[in-house]
Amino acid sequence: MKEEIVGVTGGMGFVGRSIVKKLLEDKWKVRCLVRKPEGSEDLKKQGIEIYKGDITNKSSIDESFFQDLSYLIHLVGIIKEVETQTLERVHFQGTKNLVDLAKNSGVKKFIHMSALGTRPDARSRYHSTKWMAEEYLRKNGLNHTIFRPSIIFGPDDEFINTFIRIIKLSPFIPVIKGGKLQPIYVGDVAHFFVQALTNQKTDGKTFELGGTKKLTLGEIIKVLLKVLNVERVLIPIPSFLMYPPAYLFQTVLRNPPLTLDQLIMLEEDNVCDMKEVQDIFSFSLLPLEEGLKQYLS
Ligand SMILES: NC(=O)c1ccc[n+]([C@@H]2O[C@H](COP(=O)([O-])OP(=O)(O)OC[C@H]3O[C@@H](n4cnc5c(N)ncnc54)[C@H](OP(=O)(O)O)[C@@H]3O)[C@@H](O)[C@H]2O)c1
Repeated sequence: MKEEIVGVTGGMGFVGRSIVKKLLEDKWKVRCLVRKPEGSEDLKKQGIEIYKGDITNKSSIDESFFQDLSYLIHLVGIIKEVETQTLERVHFQGTKNLVDLAKNSGVKKFIHMSALGTRPDARSRYHSTKWMAEEYLRKNGLNHTIFRPSIIFGPDDEFINTFIRIIKLSPFIPVIKGGKLQPIYVGDVAHFFVQALTNQKTDGKTFELGGTKKLTLGEIIKVLLKVLNVERVLIPIPSFLMYPPAYLFQTVLRNPPLTLDQLIMLEEDNVCDMKEVQDIFSFSLLPLEEGLKQYLS
């Protein structure tokens, strides 16, 4: 067992669970900050220390979480807003709270989860608030590495699983026409995050992450149909036709199937060349089709 402690926020989420698993495999001591400790019994059983805190509310964060903490992997993020959990509060204010606390307590390195497409002039609020968070971290002086993955796939993901549910329910699959995506396997994302803890070549750097292929949504669904060995009729839909329903969904539903912000993101390409990653990390990527075959069949 290594002596140093790695703190993780969002450790009970889809990506978080893979990163925590990889940290434990690599013999790190792991500590998670969660909003509801009562739901984290299985993490405790694996020897993980659990601390309570809502990152958007600094006074709710148990400050002993930061005691003797060497590294912090910050994964909390949202795609849909719920009540006071706005994109600004979670992505920017939450990150600011953690960066300030980490700096004051002497954390050696802050590994930050951003997203591909994050840039200063981003059209979506998801990306513009991720940009604000990145900038706060970069300007604060704390040693850090930032990752910006494209869409992440894995057994418990939200994106691919939504289409699996539609495929099971309907002979017709609506396909919003948009940009290309570069799905990356959740285990590969975990691999990059854990390597970045101790690889000094990653200090102060921002890396874009994507999988082996750049695919449109229609092409991703065709891969899914092939792996599931079923046939469905794809109905291409121009994105502008989805604006009124997306607006309606997000206005009336607590958990809308699609928001305007998501629609904006789907219209854009979400791809990268991985060049910088190749120079610094050792890795091999699990292709989408292989990954789906592993956990769907
Ligand atoms: N999934 C993707 O395709 C993808 C792609 C690129 C980037 N990312 C980024 O990766 C990160 C993780 O995504 P994910 O798909 O794993 O999301 P997820 O499954 O929804 O996990 C998010 C985690 O954050 C926690 N959380 C939310 N609000 C919190 C708050 N105010 N204080 C403390 N914890 C809070 C949630 O815990 P509760 O149980 O308390 O809600 C949950 O454990 C996000 O930053 C996301 O933007 C994801």
